[in-house]
Amino acid sequence: MKKVGIIGVGEYLPKKVLTNADLEKMVDTSDEWITTRTGIKERHLAAKDEAASDLAIKAGQSALEDAKLKGEDLDLIIIATISPDMQTPATACIVQNALGAKKAICFDISAACAGFVYALTVAQQFIARGSCKNALVIGTEILSSITDWKDRNTCVLFGDGAGAAILSEVKSGGIIASYLGGNGSIYDILMVPAGGSKMPVSQETLDKRLHFLTMRGNELFKIAVKAMHDAACVVLERAGLKAEDVDLVIPHQANVRIIMAVAKKLGFTEDKIYLNIEKCGNMSSASTATALCEAVKEGKIKKGDIVLLDAFGAGLVWGACVIKW
Ligand code: UT7
Repeated sequence: MKKVGIIGVGEYLPKKVLTNADLEKMVDTSDEWITTRTGIKERHLAAKDEAASDLAIKAGQSALEDAKLKGEDLDLIIIATISPDMQTPATACIVQNALGAKKAICFDISAACAGFVYALTVAQQFIARGSCKNALVIGTEILSSITDWKDRNTCVLFGDGAGAAILSEVKSGGIIASYLGGNGSIYDILMVPAGGSKMPVSQETLDKRLHFLTMRGNELFKIAVKAMHDAACVVLERAGLKAEDVDLVIPHQANVRIIMAVAKKLGFTEDKIYLNIEKCGNMSSASTATALCEAVKEGKIKKGDIVLLDAFGAGLVWGACVIKW
C-alpha cells in the first residue's frame, strides 16, 4: 500500500458577508445570542449566480496551483456536498469539465458535515491501491440555498464556501489513520425533508417550507460532542498516538461550544484547536476543508506536524483522520 498525503490545498469564500447585525433585521435574534451560543459573528453567502460547482472550481484551481499540478494530472475528483448544483449529474462532473480534468473519475459523496473527511478517506484508498495517482477532494456548500431564512433556530448557523485538497503518493507521513462511522437510526434529527424521491416537490411541500434544513439542535448538541470525542479516540488509537502528540486539531465548525467541550474531554488546550467558525459559520463539508486550508496558509501546520481532522453531521455520520504533514 502506498503512503498518501495532501500535497496542495485551496479555498474559496463568496464575497458577500452577512453579519449578526444583518440577521437582527431579518429574524428575532441578537448578536449577543448568536455569539454566546454558537461563536459565529458572520458568514459568507454565495451570489445568486453562484452554484456549489462555481465555489468548488475556484477552490480546486487554487489547490491545483498549490500542488503545482494541472487539471489533466487528476485521476479522481470527489465532491462532498449536501447542496449540489442539481440532483443529477454529480457536481464533480461539472468541476471536472471546468478544470479540464479529462481523465478523472468523478462522483459526489453525501456525508454532510463529515463529507470532507469521508471523501479524503475514499480518495486515499484509490491512491493507496495504485488505481489513481492524483485526487482532488472538495467540500463545497451553498447552505444558504437550503436554509429557511424565516427560522431563527437554523438561519443564524450556516454559511457558504468551498475548501479543496490534492492527494497524492508521499514518501513519508501522510494520512496515517482514519475512522468513519454512522448511525441512521436518528436520520431525522437534521434533514431536508422534501425535494427527494420520498417527498417530491409539490405546492404543499413548498407551502410548508419543507425544502429547507430542519434540525433538533439541542438534542444534536450532546450527540455531537460524544460522536466527535469517540471518533478522535478511535482514530488516535489506530494511529498509535495520544492526544498530546497532536499539533493541531481541525474540527467541524458547528458550534464553538461543541468544539470546546470535545477539546476539554480530550485534554486539548485551546491553542491546539483551529477555528474559522467566527467568520464562516457552519459550512457543512466545507468547514473542515476550508479550516485545513487556512491553517496551512497561515503557517499553523508545518512539515512533520500531526493534524487531527474530526467531524460529524447529518445522517448521523462521523469521521476522523490523522495526518502527518
Ligand atoms: O453541523 C452539524 C450539525 N449541527 C449541530 O450539531 C448543531 C448542534 N446544536 C447547536 O449548536 C445548538 O443546539 C444551537 C446553536 C442550534 C442552539 O443553541 P442552544 O443553546 O441549544 O439553544 P436552544 O435550542 O436550547 O434554545 C434556547 C432558547 C430557546 O428559547 P426558550 O425556549 O428558552 O425561550 C430558543 O427559542 O433560545 C431560543 N433561540 C434563539 N434566540 C435568539 C433559538 N434560536 C435563537 C436565535 N436567537 N437565533
